[in-house]
Amino acid sequence: MKMRALKIGAAALLGLGLGTGIAVASEGGHIEAQEWSFAGAFGTFDRASLQRGYQVYKEVCASCHSMKYLAYRNLQDIGFSEAEVKALAAQYEVAQIDDAGDEEMVPAKPSDHFHSPFPNDNAAKAANGGALPPDLSLLAKAREGGPDYIYSVLVGYHEAPAGFTVPEGKYYNAAFPGNVIGMPKPISDDQVTYADETPATVHQMAHDVSTFLMWAAEPKMEERKRAGVKVMGFLAILTIFSFLTYRKVRKAVHGH
Ligand code: HEC
Repeated sequence: MKMRALKIGAAALLGLGLGTGIAVASEGGHIEAQEWSFAGAFGTFDRASLQRGYQVYKEVCASCHSMKYLAYRNLQDIGFSEAEVKALAAQYEVAQIDDAGDEEMVPAKPSDHFHSPFPNDNAAKAANGGALPPDLSLLAKAREGGPDYIYSVLVGYHEAPAGFTVPEGKYYNAAFPGNVIGMPKPISDDQVTYADETPATVHQMAHDVSTFLMWAAEPKMEERKRAGVKVMGFLAILTIFSFLTYRKVRKAVHGH
């Protein structure tokens, strides 16, 4: 236990972050720790999983959850080409003021931010039985457990235990704090068809979309880790040189 605390402390100090391989017990919710390609000091995002995760977001989650901090062009970071991003953006419409001062709807450009499903929070709540579907742009960093938490919420729909009453219009969820959630079970097997033919199981889709949401919340994670590793290397070399200098000085002073 002490070792683990020390390890976490040391990694945090160096700005590396240990990733998310640690099981976390959040208030009332049961969180299942997953294996993530991006965990650890050398972890990187799995591009195929990111692209599948975007597909899940787009085809399933985007009907309720906005991701307003992301622009379509950000998708180039996860391996979509410029032309693909242009085509993806053009599937949505944005309002624009034309020369006559009138508002017209035009296809979105890569620089536009992701289309939001509702005009504002009130409309979002009204459509969801009073529960607000939070913006997903930063959720992976905003919740304890991060991607493990998101994964666990998505797979956490079970029969409520005996004696547990779930209010009308709400659902039992093992991971959500308080175990009562306003989101109906969003994914079931084969909900999407992956272009790369990966079987779309609930586990796979939950894993992919959580990976995508982690990238969205911290798109520069890989750069940060690379910088951290460089700093470690630099410190290691500095330590060796300091030791050699110390030996030299000691020899000069003591003769051994
Ligand atoms: C039918 C609308 C709907 C769909 C589709 C939907 N959600 Fe939700 N989601 C909600 C609502 C409403 C809440 C708020 C629940 C509450 O507060 O009780 C929510 C809550 C959540 C939470 C918990 C948020 C928190 O505050 O901790 C996560 C995580 C989440 N959704 C992820 C997703 C993902 C990922 C998808 C796509 C696979 C998705 N949702 C699809 C409506 C939806």
